[in-house]
Amino acid sequence: MTALRPTGTGFDADTATWILHTPNTTYALRLTDGRLAHVHWGAALTDAEAAALPVRAESGARQRGSTSFEARYDGTEEYAWDGGVRYGVPSLQVRFADGARGLDLEPVGDEAADDGLTIRLRDRHYPLEVALRYRLRPGTDVIERSASLTNLGDAEPIEVLRFDAASWVLPHRDDYRLSHVTGMWGAETRLRREVAAAGETVFTSRRGITSHHANPWVMTDDGTAGESHGEVWSVALAWSGSWRMTVQRTPLRRLSVSTGFGHDGISWRLAPGERLETPVSAGMFTTGGFGAASRAWHAHVRRHVLPRPEETRPVLYNSWEATFFDIDVARQSALATRAAELGAELFVVDDGWFRPYRDDRAGLGDWRVNAELFPDGFAPLAEHVRSLGMGFGIWVEPEMVNPDSDLYRAHPDRVLHQPHRARTELRNQLVLNFGRDDVRAWAGEWLHRLVRDTGAVFLKWDMNRTFSEAGEPGAADPDRLWIEHTRGVHLVMDRLRDAWPDLRIESCSGGGGRLDLAMLARTDQVWASDNTDAADRLRIQHGFTQLYPPGVLEAWVTDSPNTVTGRRTPLAFRFHVAMTGVLGLGGDLAAWSDDERREAASLVALYKRIRPLVQHGRLYRLRPPDAEGLCALQFADRDVVVFAFRETPRMGFGVPPLPLAGLPRTARYRDTSTGAEYDAGVLTHHGLPLDLPRGEYASTVVHLERRR
Ligand code: DGJ
Repeated sequence: MTALRPTGTGFDADTATWILHTPNTTYALRLTDGRLAHVHWGAALTDAEAAALPVRAESGARQRGSTSFEARYDGTEEYAWDGGVRYGVPSLQVRFADGARGLDLEPVGDEAADDGLTIRLRDRHYPLEVALRYRLRPGTDVIERSASLTNLGDAEPIEVLRFDAASWVLPHRDDYRLSHVTGMWGAETRLRREVAAAGETVFTSRRGITSHHANPWVMTDDGTAGESHGEVWSVALAWSGSWRMTVQRTPLRRLSVSTGFGHDGISWRLAPGERLETPVSAGMFTTGGFGAASRAWHAHVRRHVLPRPEETRPVLYNSWEATFFDIDVARQSALATRAAELGAELFVVDDGWFRPYRDDRAGLGDWRVNAELFPDGFAPLAEHVRSLGMGFGIWVEPEMVNPDSDLYRAHPDRVLHQPHRARTELRNQLVLNFGRDDVRAWAGEWLHRLVRDTGAVFLKWDMNRTFSEAGEPGAADPDRLWIEHTRGVHLVMDRLRDAWPDLRIESCSGGGGRLDLAMLARTDQVWASDNTDAADRLRIQHGFTQLYPPGVLEAWVTDSPNTVTGRRTPLAFRFHVAMTGVLGLGGDLAAWSDDERREAASLVALYKRIRPLVQHGRLYRLRPPDAEGLCALQFADRDVVVFAFRETPRMGFGVPPLPLAGLPRTARYRDTSTGAEYDAGVLTHHGLPLDLPRGEYASTVVHLERRR
């Protein structure tokens, strides 16, 4: 192996240890006994310290030296493959053409570069090469890992049963706990924190999208970390289709996480000469608890993932909850006028504009403006919107087709389907196979035309059904669609952005069904949930922002009672909750009273003053949504803004001052609405006095301007 030593990457030749340094952490792996052992992922170490670390092979119980039932390396290997004496979760599983399963890989080379490392391994018998990549990025503790698999043969295909981007190994701790989000439509990204089960815990989506039900990240700690203290190891996968993340807690008391695209039961055929690349799995170690972990992820996403992180997201108006499918040019124009009066900067026409009937039964795939609803096309509405000083945005759902459409009648073969199986419709629609070149070309072409003809600066890219009976009859590798569909979606988005540099894209999938680092690499914001109930949103947004920054979390103020829960909440509470993300308006503004519109306009104006802090600042979760009595969030840069929410008052107790976090010790602040001044020490140790209205769903926002 080489002894190259680029920035951030070291190699200790005596111990054959590769050492990667991020600003605050160190990662090390070692070639030992012909295998790759994991050495360290955690606090910063010197090269000498990392090289001196022993490789821990676990032994288990012993009686006269007998340990024949234990696989000594399970849960400690840098990248575990199927084969030999291994019984833990394999990151790589294949079957060769002669029926042999399992691999016998030996490291054959490494390449170090300024920003990382590649280690190549080859099978001792079969023509298969695996490359493991580690990438370091400036100013982040995130390590990006991925892998590629190459069939070096010229005759036989290789069946790939599992191919993960990375396996992440944690150090020995007495206990392990997992933090992750779970949910469903209307109830996405709800945080759970639970002891890691002995055995295997699988988080997965078999749905063809990231899913509402799980999200591809997990944070692990030893059970003692809190919001502002403790070691936290996090792992995320940058993938927008089906995925799997297996957490393994071994009987020998180790914990590891293996993650990649695909799910159980599907396999891929690697043709001779072909190479398969995994998506990136990003891992980060933080001290400072879950709050510090979230802030570090937010900073990473802003610095290295989002296409336009520096931009301030506009206040948008979206017509969906106001009209549902009951849409036409007159109503949209009236809503646009009202939205502009309140301060909206972007007007987005939602679903329905191309539908022949006022429902979801037909028209998807044809993408022709309905001439009865918009007799002169989009031009008059788009002009009206622009004359009000707003950008024009449009809802699209490119991956979908209604069987009742000209597209489907002409090309029934273009949808995901299997021979002799039903084509089950969900929401009266089927999924177009974005793995196909003709589908990608078709989508790219009509989207391009739509943007060109309407002058749209914003697309809401929706995806409203999960895969079922997903197949591609006649394809050489029918399960490849699970990868290629997602790649196709990414490609069409990338090309669209390249062609239209001013175009911004919202990722939506029936609410928050497609939220992941790969989506964030090509979109600007994400619709977090169709549930716009502000009380529920506090919880959904709490989970969303564990990993993803508030500056991409789109949140609308809608009507009361809420269309999903029926709950009634004051306008200010709805606004304040939505203002902790990217504020949008989504109510039927025609029905809002003059007083409501006046209040809304002043809250939009307030949001515009504080949004640089919310969208680009550091988030401190002072009190989580289920904290007794009060939920509070703080966003800080030079100034600070604090939001507090009390859903239900109890026993007439008042609200004590709220201690703030992360303030520079000598700073002094002024409350921009009352003029009161506070020293940082007082705010940190005694707290900010809060003036909450009486009654249910009370909230307040305090903007503290830094004076010193
Ligand atoms: C699901 C989205 O989440 C909604 O906001 C809306 O766009 C509907 N689809 C339209 O069909």
